[in-house]
Amino acid sequence: MVGGGCGMARLGFYGVLMGLWGFSAASCPNSCTCSTSRIVCIDQDPGIEDFPVLAEETDMENITDIFITNQDRLFSISDVHMKSYFNLRNLTVTNSQLSSISPTAFLYNARLQYLNLKDNNLSTLSWKAIRYSNMSYLYLSGNPLQCSCENMWIKLFLGLDETENQELQCIDEEGIKSLSRLAPAACELPTANVTPSILTQMNGTDATVVCKVTGHPTPQLTWNTNTLTTNAEPYPTELGSSLFLSRLSSDDNGHEITCSAENVVGMREATLKLNILFPPTIVQLQEPRQNLHWCIYFLVRGNPPPELVWYHKGDLLEEHSYLQTRIHGGEGSEKEGCLELQNPTHIHNGEYKLVAHNKYGTDEKRVDAHFMGPPDEPTDDYGGCK
Ligand SMILES: *[C@@H]1O[C@H](CO)[C@@H](O)[C@H](O)[C@H]1NC(C)=O
Ligand SMILES: *[C@@H]1O[C@H](CO)[C@@H](O)[C@H](O)[C@H]1NC(C)=O
Ligand SMILES: *[C@@H]1O[C@H](CO)[C@@H](O)[C@H](O)[C@H]1NC(C)=O
Ligand SMILES: *[C@@H]1O[C@H](CO)[C@@H](O)[C@H](O)[C@H]1NC(C)=O
Ligand SMILES: *[C@@H]1O[C@H](CO)[C@@H](O)[C@H](O)[C@H]1NC(C)=O
Repeated sequence: MVGGGCGMARLGFYGVLMGLWGFSAASCPNSCTCSTSRIVCIDQDPGIEDFPVLAEETDMENITDIFITNQDRLFSISDVHMKSYFNLRNLTVTNSQLSSISPTAFLYNARLQYLNLKDNNLSTLSWKAIRYSNMSYLYLSGNPLQCSCENMWIKLFLGLDETENQELQCIDEEGIKSLSRLAPAACELPTANVTPSILTQMNGTDATVVCKVTGHPTPQLTWNTNTLTTNAEPYPTELGSSLFLSRLSSDDNGHEITCSAENVVGMREATLKLNILFPPTIVQLQEPRQNLHWCIYFLVRGNPPPELVWYHKGDLLEEHSYLQTRIHGGEGSEKEGCLELQNPTHIHNGEYKLVAHNKYGTDEKRVDAHFMGPPDEPTDDYGGCK
């Protein structure tokens, strides 16, 4: 093959003539055929020695389907083989000698949804292997699966009917039995329960939340506090763990904390929501700007959401359809909007004061507005109060 290499990979016509569907011979492993989306390894002689990996990383990006069968020397799959196939949807490895799939094998294959591993030499497969994938179809018949707690998840994942449909079996000292009847002693999916489920408390105060877990073997408990600015300190308790939250920050209002429990059978998590009460703050109050209408922009925070009242030159402002508060949005404890003025004249000039109030406090801010001079001194000045 003259030159070989990657240059030729792009010569689709050449490739088709060579039965390579537009791929370089150098990139596609021996005994396999490769296209831009598919790798097929069915030749027994010489056969592949390891899981197929292409020479060019970019060639692996678009692979959606890998089909491997009749390979005597393929023993294991790990994330090292799989990590560049991040668009992989279908993986078939059948009638080969696979005896191990690492718990992180499909860590980078979020799209993987079809996994056919029939007729291999797998005695166990961990649920962790598929935890980050999008698995909908799993085929495992023809493997010497053990009747162990580690394989219990397969029955739970597939459901009884599908386990029976696939005629999945497992082996223990007593011999071979149907996987659908697998029920090892002390083998139980974890549960996690967190209290309270909503924590309602003032900012600046301390709190303790509790997560209780069950399951066999005893599950490992993990708090996820990644989204928090509040300092959170876990400590173990008899049935789980407590989390001490010191000086709750108003920034964490609306955020969630999860407690997850995992063992060889699987994983469960429980979520707690923070409802942190705090007095209002007017974060921004801007000089008027003209879009379709005039807008005095504001951004306020507070929980419960503050009530807003405007004053113009010291007097309570009465709102009308042509002069009113409009809320445009804001996330969580934020409220964002405009005091909207339609066709304001010089009588609307002067100081505007915004007062934000909830039951924990009050904040206020002022801004000067200058819309137009009185009729006897015409001006095109539209720009607020610089
Ligand atoms: C992968 O697919 C993208 C988008 O369809 C395309 O631009 C790119 O050239 C393909 N890469 C290879 C190596 O075929
Ligand atoms: C994956 O395999 C299934 C079943 O054989 C097939 O229906 C589907 O088209 C395949 N998907 C891709 C992306 O190859
Ligand atoms: C997961 O699979 C479903 C169909 O089973 C599909 O609709 C969805 O887009 C997939 N998600 C990803 C990330 O591929
Ligand atoms: C199958 O795997 C086991 C280890 O799990 C190994 O001892 C055995 O030799 C393998 N069988 C074959 C036929 O390779
Ligand atoms: C509570 O939140 C308000 C508004 O964010 C802040 O001004 C105040 O300092 C906070 N109080 C405590 C005790 O953290």
